[in-house]
Amino acid sequence: MEGCLVNSVERMIAACSCQHVDRPPVWLMRQAGRYLPEYLELRRKHSFWDVLRSPALALEVALQPFRRFQLDAAILFSDILVLLDAMGAQVAYTDKGPSMGRPFRGARDLPSIYKLDPHRDLPWVGEAMELLCQHMHPQRAVIGFAGAPLTLAAYLCEGGPSKDLRTIKSLSYRDPHLVQDLLLALADAVADLLIMQVDAGADLLQVFDTWAGNLSPQDHELLCVPANKRLAQRLKERDVPVILYERGAASHLESSSRLGFQVHSIDTSLSLSRAREILPAGTAIQGNTDPAVLMAPPEYIHTHVREMIQRAGHLGLIVNLGQGLVPEIPVEGVAAFVRAVTEYQAP
Ligand code: CP3
Repeated sequence: MEGCLVNSVERMIAACSCQHVDRPPVWLMRQAGRYLPEYLELRRKHSFWDVLRSPALALEVALQPFRRFQLDAAILFSDILVLLDAMGAQVAYTDKGPSMGRPFRGARDLPSIYKLDPHRDLPWVGEAMELLCQHMHPQRAVIGFAGAPLTLAAYLCEGGPSKDLRTIKSLSYRDPHLVQDLLLALADAVADLLIMQVDAGADLLQVFDTWAGNLSPQDHELLCVPANKRLAQRLKERDVPVILYERGAASHLESSSRLGFQVHSIDTSLSLSRAREILPAGTAIQGNTDPAVLMAPPEYIHTHVREMIQRAGHLGLIVNLGQGLVPEIPVEGVAAFVRAVTEYQAP
């Protein structure tokens, strides 16, 4: 096997367990979406909710980046908030960001979280995953994903994006048991949704904890650690690697490293070599180019990628961004980034 790992699925799985690879695999957070003209074109005809709920349209969007770039993995086209909508939160996507028509206000809102059955309430997620796997396997890996309990609870309590998370924090200072019940119920719902995606064919999973960095170490211990630990434990019901992405949470990495995730996705605030020092041996890393680098000339991007891989070490590494692609990023920058990784030759 040494030296002949040429298949993207094997490359991704080997990277997650720090095994030998010919080169590190590459994919990009938010690789399907608004920076692609063909996505914007499709969105002129279909609402975002229509795309999410139609497996054929979701497949088309997930495939779009593959017509341009040689990525190693496809990510299901969906959104972290579909779970909250299925629980009755009435999610709307507006120009100012997502908003919840019915935010979480207290214990009376818990039952709808406990009774969620993703097969019944989100069947199109499983169907989109099955379709995507049919198109990608056996050549390319397919990633399933969901939001982490804290990030989902934050949207649910705040009613939309909020940097200081003051509603959920004050609720947890006033009524810590209620917030723990909410987070643990969400951990189970997220686990059920992710297990459905694995059963539909996903090769690996990523959990997005977008708001984890907006917490003090003390609040992180309370609001992220127990629920993410439960999630990691539940996901052991299936034998697939799980990546945890905590945005802006460099100072929480040591604490999170004990939760049982095989891969930690590192954001731009921490160097990959420092992340290696913090994480236990045998833990893989993903990251962590600043999306702004993709606005640089191709030669700059090429050198950046080579140096990043050399500094981080190419084993146990998935090359990615430190945060998701934004609409301003030029397609040529993405192409140069992916090419630099696929041309990389491990020493
Ligand atoms: O390639 C992919 O990664 C596509 C699948 C995907 C989407 N959202 C599609 C989407 C994924 C993995 C997500 C994750 C997601 N959604 C996160 C975590 C990742 C992160 O960046 O930290 C969060 C916080 C959300 C919630 C959400 N959904 C927001 C804040 C927004 C509006 C702004 C934005 O980021 O685009 C959405 C809408 C959304 N989700 C769009 C897409 C392509 C844009 C919809 C449109 O206007 O066409």
